[in-house]
Amino acid sequence: MIPDKVPKDDVFYGAAELQKGAHVPTFEKYKDMYMQSIQDPDKFWGDMAKDFFWKSQHTGRFLDYNFDVTKGEIFTKCMAGASTNICYNVLDRNVHDRKLGDKVAFHWEGNEPGDESMVTYRELLHAVCRFANVLKSQGVRKGDRVAIYLPMVVELVVAMLACARLGAVHSIVFAGFSAESLSDRIMDSGCSLLVTADGFYRGDKLINLKILADEALQKCRDKGFPLHRCIVLKHLSKEAHETSLSCPPAKRSCPDLQDKETSRVKKSRPVPQVPWNPEVDRCWHALVAAASDQCEPEWCESEDPLFILYTSGSTGKPKGVLHTLSGYMLYTAATFKLVFDHRPDDVYWCTADIGWITGHSYVTYGPLANGATSVLFEGLPTYPDVSRMWQMVDKYRVSKFYTAPTAIRLLMKYGNEPVQKYKRDSLKVLGTVGEPINPEAWHWYFSVVGDSRCPIVDTFWQTETGGHVLTPLPAATPMKPGSATFPFFGVVPAILNECGEELEGPSEGYLVFKQPWPGVMRTVYGNHGRFQSTYFKKFPGYYVTGDGCRRDKDGYYWITGRIDDMLNVSGHLLSTAEVESALVEHEAVAEAAVVGRPHPVKGESLYCFVTLGDGRTFNPTLEAQLRKQVREKIGAIATPDYIQDAPGLPKTRSGKIMRRVLRQIARGEKDLGDISTLADSSVVETLFINRCQPAL
Ligand code: WTA
Repeated sequence: MIPDKVPKDDVFYGAAELQKGAHVPTFEKYKDMYMQSIQDPDKFWGDMAKDFFWKSQHTGRFLDYNFDVTKGEIFTKCMAGASTNICYNVLDRNVHDRKLGDKVAFHWEGNEPGDESMVTYRELLHAVCRFANVLKSQGVRKGDRVAIYLPMVVELVVAMLACARLGAVHSIVFAGFSAESLSDRIMDSGCSLLVTADGFYRGDKLINLKILADEALQKCRDKGFPLHRCIVLKHLSKEAHETSLSCPPAKRSCPDLQDKETSRVKKSRPVPQVPWNPEVDRCWHALVAAASDQCEPEWCESEDPLFILYTSGSTGKPKGVLHTLSGYMLYTAATFKLVFDHRPDDVYWCTADIGWITGHSYVTYGPLANGATSVLFEGLPTYPDVSRMWQMVDKYRVSKFYTAPTAIRLLMKYGNEPVQKYKRDSLKVLGTVGEPINPEAWHWYFSVVGDSRCPIVDTFWQTETGGHVLTPLPAATPMKPGSATFPFFGVVPAILNECGEELEGPSEGYLVFKQPWPGVMRTVYGNHGRFQSTYFKKFPGYYVTGDGCRRDKDGYYWITGRIDDMLNVSGHLLSTAEVESALVEHEAVAEAAVVGRPHPVKGESLYCFVTLGDGRTFNPTLEAQLRKQVREKIGAIATPDYIQDAPGLPKTRSGKIMRRVLRQIARGEKDLGDISTLADSSVVETLFINRCQPAL
């Protein structure tokens, strides 16, 4: 399955000195380790587990599973029976056993240049203990779900690890999601407490987070799900609402965290409004000031839930992906160490928001498990200008840098000068994640950003996989631009045709996995049936990714994109059904169909066809209302790029919308192929005439 030989030509390598001291220095070594990981996974992962602290050892098999629905329930168990705590492993173990207490865990940099702070492992441990005591004082117990809706601040890491310390389950909602999305997630996972902040700036834009959080809580109440406690962090406003918040005027969010200095908010800028409900709201600062910085971790069982994270589902309703403790810990730690070839003196920077899986696995758990020093960045790559990233790379001497193709394409548009005005000589490894990277962007990233010296790890994975599943290893794998190359240890991919037959050699079809690895998701929260039918029903015996994939003559894997009704906009998965249902909730809309149209920066953009109800006319006001409607229902990431008036949609005689035809219309492809199954082919002509032109 892994080729004996990899090509010498037409492939790219990073600088040879990277091999010196690398965890996996050659392709031969990768192959050996890969074979061991497949032939004896228990030994392979058992060796990795030795680095961690176990209160008691596992009792059953190291990795036990059933991936075949025809043989019974789907399950994966890793180190069942063992007892541990992930917060203890990523903090106490580093501080006490590995003597890393004074090492910087995070260099935090805010949206505004100059607004910065840092936190060591020891400080982080104390801050987490304090907040864990706060959560306890508010009634949070092992197994309870806690919703977290915060911007990219150190307190977000503190809140998630405090949950983990108590064995509570965090459910983080990306702070760019709408009030409605937040309330749906709170209710679906049955959270008993919400942690949020006053607000934050994204570039020049103020996000009044507390107002959104209040709206979400109101929606929950309206639906008979009252949530009794909300803890509010003062992030932006220092004095503005001291009295209403009844907060101490502390500048620090926690006595353990070093001062966050300077201008959080530019003097001329408005601070967020913070409505206050004394029945429900509590001030973060007042609570932590009164809490002890000592807190015994709750010892949990390996398969106890760690977190729920929602991801789009093709039916429209987001799925609460559930990850459990030990397997996820081992897998994120191992992938982080090997895929970024982590060394003790590295400074690592992953630009993803913690609200997505990349942030969970590769901002928080993987790096901390390795005792890494990371950059945690609140802002945008283009604010205050398009050099921000490279200026920060030099400032912190970043050696490993991980971002998304959409960010690379965006910055590439501005040319080389903003990059080349900074040295970037600290960089050693570059990474990408979230969507296929087009070769043009790959070459720019490799030659301009990395000066043809840094290998690019193109990591393919999903919220569901917990960590990287197809990826190069930086010192070992010859790279092909645009290919995620080969499987990580313990991962066995296959390509299936429509009949479910495994294809050998060069081929293209459905990407599936034949056996679990420790970090694979365990269930959809509260709906094991949906978990089984989404991932295991189509091809019994396999985990189905939902992605198409090609294997070339050299055995390299190339992701070709989603093969279900999902779109990937700027690296974020969106379900067409979810956007459609937001559109049809508008009283003027009778029917809607959403497809993807290629976009030079975002990868895909949202192209929406709407059929209006009788007597309704399409006009710019309605168009603006529809955009707003989708933003309010889902969040700004789902804002439609194009909305087209569609008096009729192309349907088969049985009434099924032919999305293929809509995709072709959106792309302006005149040759529609076989449309004989359409009930009324004249609708297609009308749609073509009214096509939205690409924005300039
Ligand atoms: C896509 C993000 C190609 C893919 C970690 C997958 C990629 C979905 C890559 C998961 C990559 C992610 N190359 N496609 N390197 N990485 N994808 O759950 O379609 O937000 O199924 O997890 O992103 O998105 P999710």
